[in-house]
Amino acid sequence: MGHRSNYSASVVIILSFLISFYIIHLLDQHFTLVRSNYTKNNPVFIYERLSGQNLIDIRENNPVNSKDSNIYRHQKCSLEPEYRFDCGRDRVLGQSQCEDRGCCYDPLSNSAGPPWCFYPTFYPGYKMGPLTPTERGRAAVLTRSKPFYLPRDISTLRLEIEERTAGVLHLTLKDPSVQRYEVELPDDVTQSRDKKDVLYITEFKSDPFGFIVRRKSNGNVIVNTTVAPLLFADQYLQLSTTLASTLVSGLGEHYTSLLLDLNWTSLTLWNRDMAPHADANLYGSHPFYLVQEGDGSAHGVFLLNSNAIEVVLQPTPALTWVSTGGILDLYIILGADPQSVVQQYLQVIGFPMMPPYWSLGFHLCRWGYTTTNTTRYVAQRMHDAGFPLDVQWNDLDYADKRRIFTFDPQRFGDLPEMVEEFHQRGLKYILILDPGISSTSRPGTYPPFDDGLKRDVFIKNVTGDILIGKVWPGPTAFPDFTNPEAIQWWEDCIRNFYSKVPVDGLWIDMNEPSSFVQGSVEGCPDTGLENPPYTPRVIGGQLNSGTLCMSAQQKQSTHYNLHNMYGLTEAFATNRALMKITGKRPFVLSRSSFSGIGRFSAVWTGDVRSDWEQLRFSIPAVLQFGLFGVPLVGADICGFGGDTTEELCVRWMQLGAFYPFMRNHNDRPNAPQEPYVFGREAQAAMRSVLKVRYSLLPFLYTLFHHAHTSADTVARPLFMVFPTDPDCQTIDRQFLWGTSLLISPVLEQGAAQLNAYLPKGTWYNFYNGEPFYSKGQYVLLPAPLDTINVHVREGHIIPQQEPALTTTASRRNPFFLMVALSSGGQAWGDLFWDDGESLDTYETRNYCHVTFAAGQSQIVSDPLKLNKALDGLVLGGLRVFGVPSAPHCVLANRVKVRNFTYRSDTKVLTVSNLTLPMSRAFTVQWIL
Ligand code: NOJ
Repeated sequence: MGHRSNYSASVVIILSFLISFYIIHLLDQHFTLVRSNYTKNNPVFIYERLSGQNLIDIRENNPVNSKDSNIYRHQKCSLEPEYRFDCGRDRVLGQSQCEDRGCCYDPLSNSAGPPWCFYPTFYPGYKMGPLTPTERGRAAVLTRSKPFYLPRDISTLRLEIEERTAGVLHLTLKDPSVQRYEVELPDDVTQSRDKKDVLYITEFKSDPFGFIVRRKSNGNVIVNTTVAPLLFADQYLQLSTTLASTLVSGLGEHYTSLLLDLNWTSLTLWNRDMAPHADANLYGSHPFYLVQEGDGSAHGVFLLNSNAIEVVLQPTPALTWVSTGGILDLYIILGADPQSVVQQYLQVIGFPMMPPYWSLGFHLCRWGYTTTNTTRYVAQRMHDAGFPLDVQWNDLDYADKRRIFTFDPQRFGDLPEMVEEFHQRGLKYILILDPGISSTSRPGTYPPFDDGLKRDVFIKNVTGDILIGKVWPGPTAFPDFTNPEAIQWWEDCIRNFYSKVPVDGLWIDMNEPSSFVQGSVEGCPDTGLENPPYTPRVIGGQLNSGTLCMSAQQKQSTHYNLHNMYGLTEAFATNRALMKITGKRPFVLSRSSFSGIGRFSAVWTGDVRSDWEQLRFSIPAVLQFGLFGVPLVGADICGFGGDTTEELCVRWMQLGAFYPFMRNHNDRPNAPQEPYVFGREAQAAMRSVLKVRYSLLPFLYTLFHHAHTSADTVARPLFMVFPTDPDCQTIDRQFLWGTSLLISPVLEQGAAQLNAYLPKGTWYNFYNGEPFYSKGQYVLLPAPLDTINVHVREGHIIPQQEPALTTTASRRNPFFLMVALSSGGQAWGDLFWDDGESLDTYETRNYCHVTFAAGQSQIVSDPLKLNKALDGLVLGGLRVFGVPSAPHCVLANRVKVRNFTYRSDTKVLTVSNLTLPMSRAFTVQWIL
């Protein structure tokens, strides 16, 4: 009996355990993210699940009712460390100061980890009034009865909600009583109007105010701001949200891996002249993040705000935006796959420009080509050694006393002649422009400053005098590119200079803007703009460190509000000037950047050091700029700072051959790093990879066409192409061009092999067509010094052209196709072709577009010929990978071809010596 009852007791225990486990599991499924607001052990469910409709108002009671202060404190403060949100972000607080704020205090040993002073489970905040319809969507008023702890707290806010498109929800929070600074989006960006079947559900909590955005298809929480209070004061705006996963990328520009570290880190977005290193705010600001949700879906969030922003990341996972001004202007982007997230983001900020064809060639630069003759010599040596080179550059060396729009009469006296010679040889020429305009030349001797003064184009200090900083030429004034007159003056300066030195593009450097004195030569006034109540963690400790005074006046607003957009506005003005002067597609390279700059400019990643770590981190840097809509991007190949080594430089040239923008650039004191200075083997490796790049330029150009017209990315992280493959979620040592070319560089000193991931499917070795049937696995690949591993994905056709020493020459060479057959024997590819330099060729239908389709042992082309760009160009041959057996005959346009070979070991068919006009449809068949 005793036995039996023991037995039934155990059954009961086990059963009740299983049942409660099941109930918890069910609750978990439905409430996980809601619960994560509070504690793991003591979940407080305060939301109802909402179905179907959008914008439902949920009114809630305070979940913690006990008035006993100890119990109350215990309940309200019993949050596990990772669920704590910092109540003392703005300053360090002791216990009593913390509790005076109504927050919880719990000092932990790890000072870099969870906050000691954190918000309790219930913290009074804004109360939301009813939602009312507006022209664009809905709006509500938020009010708070008690002020927050921040100076100049704003007690009434207006919330506006716009269902902008099916994928993009737009929410703004602003002060309805005054006009605060707002970043304006260009009104000419491509807009999708599709609002059918929105992908999101929005829920509001009224007291304290918060909102939740879910993915409609599966209920996943994308944004949940109810986890911490919304703060909105004049110079301190704060909004926290949970994150749907820990797989977060973006929030540039920083020296990070592709996935951000959520272990209580913070990233500051404040443009700064700073050589890339960890934990520093760098040259650009892109307040946009992308989250992989783990099941292949992804979403993005863009905070359109140009003030200094600090983003706090914590392992909850959660994120807190802190901005020092402006408004909260949020775009929540539902995707649903990562590529669609980027496309929808770029529908908001603008699609990237179409670069000139030549700008995809190799660029060579150095600070220290001190004369025209040195510059000529460098270009000549490149040519003599058989290295492709399209663009020769000069740094500041060319300028007379380092003043832009002049050239040194002695050392660069024949600059116009040199540029003319380069042009004769099919080379292009670019030089540097810094925004600082020397202010100390004798009046009448330096027109850019004299004219600028007359036309009132320079940034002023708080008293209305021109603000003088210090850059390379000494004391300098800074053009205000938010002033239309300055944009015109800049164009006139460029036009004048161009009439003597017809540059092909412009390099805009130091445009954070950088200054060697803090604020100005006279310092800055001691105001709340210079020393705001809260300064995010910035290099130098103050917002005006290494740049202008925050109180400086620009046409549109204070520098405090506009600082992060200085480079963007300069890029716009430079692009516009070049376009008007040359009538051709402009090429601009900018160091500083902000959301939307990809419409006007390429970007490089600044003063990277010549070392292996910087080589490795250049990949996530390039990939992140792709997410930000700046596909034309690269790092200084072989490194800018410090001496390179031969091995590092070979590996960097190999990786750099797959940066969308490929430039080798070096600083003055360092060992030279032009390809021709190295030993024979190293030179051969560099030459061969340059040729690979040049052979691939038709493909790369076509990818840029798709970036320009559809916001596709060019250099892509693996997760963008294989979003459902968990192995691809984290990879940032390899990347793809488009969807089909996988690049696996060596990033370690001394390595002659590497472990590379090949997603599921057949991948062909780029060089010999050998197939690898991957289950989705890591593969040990040989990678001797002369090799960068590149694989072509089954089912794709890559258009190529015989390489040459310049694109001027290679563009006339025969095309060939690399056809990577799928297991079913099919493949597809395309080619966009125009003259490579005219404006708006796509928009004005002044181009050719050829599609290629392979199947049933043949490949056919289908040309759309809208101009003569392809006339005279031929298909010279093709390589077909994955042909199962030896063809006994090959026909081109039904005529037998003599020149073909087949290798049964690799299953590669090579057809050569064809002369099929590219502008007409062709068929090549292989009869098995
Ligand atoms: C800083 C830039 O980042 C670097 O590329 C350039 O060489 C120097 N300025 C000199 O102009």
